[in-house]
Amino acid sequence: MDPSEPRWERVELSDGRVRLRAPRDSDLDDIVAACQDPEAVRWTSVPQPYGPAEAEGFLRIVEDGWTSGRAAIFFISTAEHDGRYCGAIDLRLDGEGGGEVGFAVAPWARGSGVCTAALRLVCRWGFDTLGLGRIEWLAHVGNDASRRVADKVGFVYEGVQRAKCHQRGVRYDAWVAGLLPGELR
Ligand SMILES: CC(C)(COP(=O)(O)OP(=O)(O)OC[C@H]1O[C@@H](n2cnc3c(N)ncnc32)[C@H](O)[C@@H]1OP(=O)(O)O)[C@@H](O)C(=O)NCCC(=O)NCCS
Repeated sequence: MDPSEPRWERVELSDGRVRLRAPRDSDLDDIVAACQDPEAVRWTSVPQPYGPAEAEGFLRIVEDGWTSGRAAIFFISTAEHDGRYCGAIDLRLDGEGGGEVGFAVAPWARGSGVCTAALRLVCRWGFDTLGLGRIEWLAHVGNDASRRVADKVGFVYEGVQRAKCHQRGVRYDAWVAGLLPGELR
């Protein structure tokens, strides 16, 4: 299969505990709460301040991503949280057989392997279904929790890209790691 022409189809993914699903209207308040969390503000480019209008904008970005075929954005939920919104994970495609992952887990779901499981699901889908040849992870230098997640899934650390991340008008150095087919753990 030509990796530049992925078999793009809207899907849900699950490992039995962690589910990557489509948004629901009832997610709105949880998105707002999760995006006001200080760790999310510190390490991601979520708009600030963040309210219902921003969450509605995010829902439109999710739909645009799937419609355009440029980004698969999933909402994370778990059985133990009764399907409640527990964060988001995305796989953005470069159109040349590569992808880049991004993720944030809501504070109420952190620290129990949710992101690691979600990242595994997305990378497995990216390799097996979309036929990607490389998936990239980037984080602001110092985001140890994110780096640990990438590490557990098999990403190989490749170095620092200077001023790579753009966050609310400021550029930050980024840690970069890559995952190739066969390296996923
Ligand atoms: C990064 C994030 C998504 C991790 O979500 P999570 O569901 O808690 O992740 P997991 O439970 O799967 O794994 C987290 C790992 O990081 C470790 N960790 C957590 N905080 C850490 C810290 N400050 N320093 C080092 N390791 C840390 C955990 O111990 C765990 O590793 P372990 O399994 O070896 O114990 C979550 O912390 C988050 O949303 N942070 C804010 C947004 C963000 O940084 N997004 C990533 C942008 S690149």
